[in-house]
Amino acid sequence: MLAAFATAPNPSDPLAALEVGDRPEPEAPDGWTTVTVRAASLNHHDLWTLRGVGIAKDRFPMILGCDAAGVDAEGRDVVVHSVIPSPDWSGDETLDPGRTLLSEVHQGTFAEQVTVPARNVLPKPAELSAAEAACLGTAWLTAYRMLFVNSGVLPGGTILVQGASGGVATALVALGAATGYRMWVTGRSEEKRQAALELGAEAAFEPGARLPSRVQAVMETVGEATWAHSLKALAPGGRIVVSGATSGPNPPADLSRIFFRQLSIVGSTMGTRAELESLMALLVSTGVRPVIGRTLPLSQAADGLAAMAAGDTAGKIVFTVS
Ligand SMILES: NC(=O)c1ccc[n+]([C@@H]2O[C@H](COP(=O)([O-])OP(=O)(O)OC[C@H]3O[C@@H](n4cnc5c(N)ncnc54)[C@H](OP(=O)(O)O)[C@@H]3O)[C@@H](O)[C@H]2O)c1
Repeated sequence: MLAAFATAPNPSDPLAALEVGDRPEPEAPDGWTTVTVRAASLNHHDLWTLRGVGIAKDRFPMILGCDAAGVDAEGRDVVVHSVIPSPDWSGDETLDPGRTLLSEVHQGTFAEQVTVPARNVLPKPAELSAAEAACLGTAWLTAYRMLFVNSGVLPGGTILVQGASGGVATALVALGAATGYRMWVTGRSEEKRQAALELGAEAAFEPGARLPSRVQAVMETVGEATWAHSLKALAPGGRIVVSGATSGPNPPADLSRIFFRQLSIVGSTMGTRAELESLMALLVSTGVRPVIGRTLPLSQAADGLAAMAAGDTAGKIVFTVS
């Protein structure tokens, strides 16, 4: 079957590790189901995999992709939940120390077929297209948990999102704006800031800009490049919710600011199956839909990955498969 896969880790030139070609069809073990993929979406996670981050060397070659929408073995339209818990795990899957995401241990979704535990497929609401549904499992689910589960801020509060055009950033702005938060954004270009305003952000700033007032929470996925600004942007008692570190994981901590202003830093990763279900219900009831900046056939996966690596994003990049 056609698949986009990482041949071997390449920390300095991730795109050189990508191959689009033939891979064996997967066989579903007991309790798993095979999904015929209709659409899959690209996440920064796929670039990390090509670099060899978050994946053991002996797992290559590895089909990329965390997210998909497709048709399961029973012929139902489904959305894939990418967090694969240990077989005997119950409760919040994101807290299982043995959990993995698709494409870390098990082959990913950038293929004509993917196998997942039966509990990892959810019915796709008819209101969402396959391409829209394929955006939800990672970026949108992560944004949902950051904002509604981990920010501690109620609608009406002001939230700063670092980064404007990425998958998680656009999901945060769209979800927050639709549910009554005042969403502020930083973006690296005028075009990206303008797009954030059109998506519902109340204000958009250059990276590091002095804000009109301090905010209750900052949504961080950028890391080193924006961390100092995130700490300065918080009102006393404010909170950074961090789920990524695209520009580097080791910013200066600025401990005195953290204790003196009584700031909190909360980690957030993916979301539960139940949260994915709630996210889909929210999209159906509000009419909010994932922002898709580019749609490409899977055979052109290299173009999508090159765009993301260059920071040339405008929401999600979706691959159509069958
Ligand atoms: N923990 C989790 O469960 C989880 C889930 C999803 C994602 N993540 C992580 O979150 C990060 C974002 O993921 P994504 O899929 O949304 O990525 P993406 O689509 O490639 O978006 C990258 C984002 O980073 C922003 N950015 C700002 N300054 C940057 C800089 N100096 N260098 C690079 N990027 C910069 C971009 O903002 P501009 O618009 O201004 O360019 C853009 O919004 C990744 O590190 C990813 O691994 C973690």
